[in-house]
Amino acid sequence: MTTRSDAEALDATSPLAHTRDRFRVPEGVVYLDGNSLGALPVGVAARLARVVEDEWGEGLIRSWNDARWMELVSRIATRIAPLVGVSPADVHVGDSTSVSLFKTMVAAARLRREQDPARRAIVVEPSTFPTDGYIAAGVADLLGLELRWCDPADPVAAVDEDVALLSLTHVDFRSGAMFDLPGITAAAHARGALVQWDLCHSAGAVPVDLTAADADLAVGCTYKYLNGGPGSPAFTWVAPRLQADLRQPITGWMGHAAPFAMTRDYERAPGIGGWASGTHQVLALSALETALEAFEGVAVADLRTASLSLTDLFVALLDERLPDLEIITPREHARRGSQVSFRHPQAYGVVQALIARGVIGDFRDPDVARFGFTPLYLRHVDVYDAVEHLAQVLAGEEHLDPSYADRNPVT
Ligand SMILES: Cc1ncc(COP(=O)(O)O)c(C=O)c1O
Repeated sequence: MTTRSDAEALDATSPLAHTRDRFRVPEGVVYLDGNSLGALPVGVAARLARVVEDEWGEGLIRSWNDARWMELVSRIATRIAPLVGVSPADVHVGDSTSVSLFKTMVAAARLRREQDPARRAIVVEPSTFPTDGYIAAGVADLLGLELRWCDPADPVAAVDEDVALLSLTHVDFRSGAMFDLPGITAAAHARGALVQWDLCHSAGAVPVDLTAADADLAVGCTYKYLNGGPGSPAFTWVAPRLQADLRQPITGWMGHAAPFAMTRDYERAPGIGGWASGTHQVLALSALETALEAFEGVAVADLRTASLSLTDLFVALLDERLPDLEIITPREHARRGSQVSFRHPQAYGVVQALIARGVIGDFRDPDVARFGFTPLYLRHVDVYDAVEHLAQVLAGEEHLDPSYADRNPVT
């Protein structure tokens, strides 16, 4: 049997033992929901206070120049780019993930159809995060395209000579299963389609090398493993070889080559600058910039080693102590993101009873209890304690408490 001392020994040799102090993790909390909302990095509160009090309060409009607010996006891009294997010059930060999905899907599907009018379909995986499917349906409606669902076990099988774009989420939000990004990209390219990747559950958690994969377009949120705070802006990456030809559809003034020339006609800014639409979200971007300092000096390979060690321990402890639970996350490292999920008929109650004990995970309809492992601030002892609490919740039937019959609006 694995003991708490075994977990302590793993913490003692973890390559990321030092990064937990970069976060404010509340006392008595085991936080297993960093795949929904990352913990608060140290320094963000002070940065926001400074931006509000000094830059906005005192500097007023002058801060656009004096505090260099216009440079926030490119500075943030330099921090995100190495986590996904790209050049910062090709990363835009702004909008929500949903809006970024819309912009990239319209641009890619439209370009491919213009190049080859037979290509009139967008392929989406049916268990993808809902917003990806909803946006694809909206784009298909807008552009008069077919929305085609693929088999999650073989997404490329649905890609034929009619397909303009394959849109996939790299790590599945329910199961934590990870697609083979380079392999699928190459196979879809061989069939003539572009591929858009949603990296919401990947960036900052698993290694991603978009350049090596010769990928086309990617988007991701920054409020999960990148810890940018609730609703923080998304990032978009567009392969440099496609930038001249792709036209994103929200042609706002911030994507203009010269916004302050205030000309009548739109002239797209060169390169990734043309992916901007409206005014920068200065407060949110400021929080995000400071949050990303938590990755300072952290190698992506070490993130992955630590993440797999944490999820391996969680799986091993579940196997030992609660073997009846149906783990739906792949056991093979190559197919596992940074979360572990299991099915339980009262999964909502299980998650709520754990939260009542300070172990925070989340529930996904209809029966999935989901636990995210952020290696920057989670320790192996936290994993051990979480499973101990889970065993006690189930043994004491705490999850059957009638108060859990009504669900909160956010689960
Ligand atoms: C894979 C994936 N895509 C998109 C989103 C959300 O999009 P938005 O940032 O627009 O709310 C999520 C949120 O959890 C997600 O998991």
